[in-house]
Amino acid sequence: MLSHTAQVLTARRALAFEQGNPLVLDNLASHFVTAEYMNIARRSDDAVHYVLMRHRVLEDYYVERAKTHRQAVILGSGFDTKFQRHAGLWQRHLEVDTHEMVAHKRDVLTRHHLSVPDFITPEGEAIEQFKQILLATDPSLPTLFLGEGYFMYFSLDHFKGFFDMAFNYYHTQPSFGFDMISDTYPQNPANRAVLERIRAAGEKVMTWCGPEVIKKYFLEKGIDVDVWFPSRLQGHYLKTKWNKEDDKYVVLAGR
Ligand SMILES: C[S@@+](CC[C@H](N)C(=O)[O-])C[C@H]1O[C@@H](n2cnc3c(N)ncnc32)[C@H](O)[C@@H]1O
Repeated sequence: MLSHTAQVLTARRALAFEQGNPLVLDNLASHFVTAEYMNIARRSDDAVHYVLMRHRVLEDYYVERAKTHRQAVILGSGFDTKFQRHAGLWQRHLEVDTHEMVAHKRDVLTRHHLSVPDFITPEGEAIEQFKQILLATDPSLPTLFLGEGYFMYFSLDHFKGFFDMAFNYYHTQPSFGFDMISDTYPQNPANRAVLERIRAAGEKVMTWCGPEVIKKYFLEKGIDVDVWFPSRLQGHYLKTKWNKEDDKYVVLAGR
């Protein structure tokens, strides 16, 4: 099954690019989008989507970290196209997703004569999957992990287990960029409707947690952590005010 959420996000980027949204740099998203998913994106009433801002801040982090890091690992990469749009930025770039997503992505990239990155399609229980991901990378390279719409598919203990494992595996401290759903999110009925749609499409979102939990985890390890709520993203990127709940956020951790 192709991921419903990956297709929705890609359609949002494709539409935003078509509309000239200044946040979105993704001129390749349209290659991966069906007319059906473009219609879903068109029907949405949000003028500015958190998911676009989250994509942008993670893309800026990917470019910025390449100055000091050599290996990028994109967790749950879906139809992300940073690798194709920033050629030569990284010594090593690895993408992680399911067999079906990877097969489809390879196919589309090849058809459009675009470069195909290295992929890994981990299997088994969560911790087993994380081990396979780490073993597919080079521990001697300063490494950035980006997980956009990825960690909420695992429990809090699982993804802390993943970070712990990564800290022990690499010779230098890795950096992380990922988004999280805050624990206030499920209280909002509109958000519950979104979660129901995602679940009905066969994807289980399991984890939400307040930013203080994540901050504490990284700070106890002596790692800098920078939390970006939608209000901060919108002020920074669009110089306008976010007038909804700050119930999701992006974490940039590392130095
Ligand atoms: C919300 S989508 C995000 C896709 C992409 N990062 C983006 O922002 O457009 C989540 C992605 O994670 C992938 N995914 C979910 N669980 C996974 C797992 N256990 N291993 C690898 N990929 C997974 C899905 O197939 C999907 O492509």
